[in-house]
Amino acid sequence: MRSALSLAPTITVSRVIKYLGSKRRLVGVIGEIAASVEQAATALDLFTGTTRVAQVFKGQGLFTTAFDQATYSEVFAKCYIETDATAISRSELEEALSYLSSLPPRAGYFTETFCLASRFVQPFNGARIDAIRDAIEADFTGTALYPVLLTSLLEAADRVDSTAGLQMAYLKSWAPRSFNPLQLRAPALLSGPGRACRGDAHELAGALGDFDIAYLDPPYNQHRYFTNYHLWETLVRWDAPEHYGVACKRTDSRDESTRSVFNSRSQMPSALRRVVEEVRARLLILSYNSEAWISREDLEKMCDRYEHVTTLAFDSKRYVGAQIGIFNPDGARVGEVSHLRNLEYVIVAGPEKEVRRATAGFRDARAELAMLSEPPR
Ligand SMILES: C[S@@+](CC[C@H](N)C(=O)[O-])C[C@H]1O[C@@H](n2cnc3c(N)ncnc32)[C@H](O)[C@@H]1O
Repeated sequence: MRSALSLAPTITVSRVIKYLGSKRRLVGVIGEIAASVEQAATALDLFTGTTRVAQVFKGQGLFTTAFDQATYSEVFAKCYIETDATAISRSELEEALSYLSSLPPRAGYFTETFCLASRFVQPFNGARIDAIRDAIEADFTGTALYPVLLTSLLEAADRVDSTAGLQMAYLKSWAPRSFNPLQLRAPALLSGPGRACRGDAHELAGALGDFDIAYLDPPYNQHRYFTNYHLWETLVRWDAPEHYGVACKRTDSRDESTRSVFNSRSQMPSALRRVVEEVRARLLILSYNSEAWISREDLEKMCDRYEHVTTLAFDSKRYVGAQIGIFNPDGARVGEVSHLRNLEYVIVAGPEKEVRRATAGFRDARAELAMLSEPPR
């Protein structure tokens, strides 16, 4: 039996950017669930963001499709999921990184907008970002190295930014890390094939194919990724957009085309229901937050076309090892959890035998956790 406290992630994935809703803590749990599925060959990570979960699927040998609406996410997916490490020459990659690192700084749009008009990155680093980004476009467009180098630049910029993790605002005083010189590193590529796609999950979920495993991690609230990560959108698109406000957000943030139904309280529940209905998967894994817009019961109802549904709940304020319960339609009950407000739900739906196998280890931990969360008598 696995103890509740042994559920911390054991699978290592590449260090990725700071990202709202990134499954840094749950990635081990999702990986264990996926690993339990017998004879699985394909996986979908439908709201892939940093590709953290997709990397685990690919690392398990699954042919993985990583899908998201954001252009920077597509770049990560092309780098970590679509690129086969064995097809990339390590020496060519190192050579390209050292060439880009040696370029003289040349202040341009990025420096003017994000270092002088606003203060997201220090100007000495901004001028290097401008020079490197121009060179990636001029010298590597259309090559296999393009998404890999762009990912390296995004991750390097993230390590020297001056934010609290979101780009709606920057810190009043420069963050200590922003004084470090920008440093390009080689992304930790994975061997094997994979697929990167960009689009609106609400429109395309059903058109992506059949999967053994599908993981759904939609946004939890009204905070838009397009505006929260507008520097990454601009660094990838490299389109020098008009901007507005203190944070120098892209003016196309106001366009309907850059919005997501998953950030709208009124539209989110029906949008997610449609996606769950349309995704073609044998085993569905859905993560959601107890403080968000849809109740656990409604999430489970959305999955009722599957033979069996089980929900795991994790205390997201502590660490993922602190699992505090399992709820399922069989009526299994756990203790009161009133002192732990913010839970991450992981809903697993599919054939009964497979769901039971996927959640068995976590289920065994329940007694111990129920005791932990039981109010004193
Ligand atoms: C909670 S985050 C996913 C985080 C990801 N699991 C990780 O570990 O990095 C939600 C993601 O949904 C994406 N998203 C929002 N609306 C979308 C839509 N309509 N279609 C596809 N992706 C969307 C966002 O760009 C964001 O990356």
